[in-house]
Amino acid sequence: MNTLERIAKEMVVSGKGIIAADESAGTCQKRFEAVGVPCTEENRRAYRETLLSAPNLEQFVSGIILYDETIRQETSEGEAFTAVLEKKGILPGIKVDAGAKELALHAGEKVTEGLDGLRERLAEYRTLGAKFAKWRAVITIGKGIPSNACIDANAHAMARYAALCQEAGIVPIVEPEVLIDGEHSIEQCYEASVAILKRTFEELAGQGVALEGTILKASMVISGKKAAQQSTIEEVARETIRALKETVPAKLAGVVFLSGGQGDEQATEHLNAMNAMDKLPWPLSFSYARAIQNPVLKIWAENPNANVGKAQAALVFRSRMNSLATQGKYSSEMERERPY
Ligand code: 13P
Repeated sequence: MNTLERIAKEMVVSGKGIIAADESAGTCQKRFEAVGVPCTEENRRAYRETLLSAPNLEQFVSGIILYDETIRQETSEGEAFTAVLEKKGILPGIKVDAGAKELALHAGEKVTEGLDGLRERLAEYRTLGAKFAKWRAVITIGKGIPSNACIDANAHAMARYAALCQEAGIVPIVEPEVLIDGEHSIEQCYEASVAILKRTFEELAGQGVALEGTILKASMVISGKKAAQQSTIEEVARETIRALKETVPAKLAGVVFLSGGQGDEQATEHLNAMNAMDKLPWPLSFSYARAIQNPVLKIWAENPNANVGKAQAALVFRSRMNSLATQGKYSSEMERERPY
């Protein structure tokens, strides 16, 4: 087994998932504003230190995705964040895309940028300790969209990114997110998901990317947030698996999900339902940001000096619930043990 395969396997090892803590400065601003904390560099550092130094997190978490600023930061005691993770046996990852920008001539659609200079940035991130990377593409469902142009442009960019990662010895997480925003039905989400996934795997093959050393970060197939008819847990599990089986080659190292605006428990329930289904060709795990961090950030923000321990307990609890969900062993009754 080569290094990329070994890292990819470790990322989705049984009972573990990934925490996304790679919010850009802009996204962080929104999240901090919502809980009334000034988004200063020191507050971002202190909050991220709370996350990655949580005792026993490594029992449930294989990797944490960091942002450019975060991968360079240190604990209040002067230890590099990456060193803290390494000691715990948690893999450091890095978000490398430069964000989703308006797609020219296609109103309401986006294309993710960040390929320019990526080879050099990856080389630096590798020296900083990154073992895997993330690139997020955004697909919007609406009247007449997603267009083929949007799907093609994003799939191609993801494949170019993935190839550069593998050249640098870094495992690519390829993330085509079909947004939950809107009134669309679960059927429309299924169609858009299949379209982007199919094209993504064609482009990955075209660029020579080894799927054994690649992780897919997928959105679940689900009705839009404002849809008149909301999908059930069973429907989400069934349709998501159907879309994946139709498009994802069996040799892919693993699939992790984003939470995309789902409720915290809802995201756990959906993951559990999928893993309780028949044997699947790939491990299915989590790579949530909001569905894990929501209670953590709220508790921390109430008193950043005094609440570190409580916030960490919430983080470890949600990670444990999602770990159980990767094995189909979660039940909503377990929420009674919540420490928050
Ligand atoms: P959410 O789980 O909040 O959707 O974030 C996951 C992520 O990393 C998006 O790129």
